[in-house]
Amino acid sequence: MKKITIITRQEKFEVLKKLLNDLGIKGMTVSNVMGCGNQKGSTEFYRGTEVRVSLINKTKVDVIVSDSLVDQIVDEVIKHVATGKVGDGKIFISAIENAVRIRTGEKGDTAI
Ligand SMILES: Nc1ncnc2c1ncn2[C@@H]1O[C@H](COP(=O)(O)OP(=O)(O)OP(=O)(O)O)[C@@H](O)[C@H]1O
Ligand SMILES: [Mg+2]
Repeated sequence: MKKITIITRQEKFEVLKKLLNDLGIKGMTVSNVMGCGNQKGSTEFYRGTEVRVSLINKTKVDVIVSDSLVDQIVDEVIKHVATGKVGDGKIFISAIENAVRIRTGEKGDTAI
């Protein structure tokens, strides 16, 4: 299992949720976060307005998925979320040791 963390523009959340649902992914954790990237100290467009970048509101989506789905998810996110402009965001991938569905006690891939 892997954790895929996608940090991107808030307005891309619906597109992101749909592409994940279309890949059969239902469980996800969504957070409103603030962050900065390479352009800290310069400017970036936020909801159509040019703003000086110190910290910008972004959406963070965490999904735990089977290893076999990782490449497909990354490809789909790039395809549907990229605008080509700075601030499109990042995808971070990390290993997950186990998952447990509390209601049933199921573990591993069957728990996600
Ligand atoms: N190295 C990092 N570690 C943790 N979070 C990051 C990192 N880089 C970016 N982020 C998060 O992703 C958000 C979007 O980053 P952003 O797309 O601006 O990255 P970038 O490296 O500046 O790329 P670009 O040049 O395309 O803008 C940031 O606001 C921050 O929340
Ligand atoms: Mg940036």
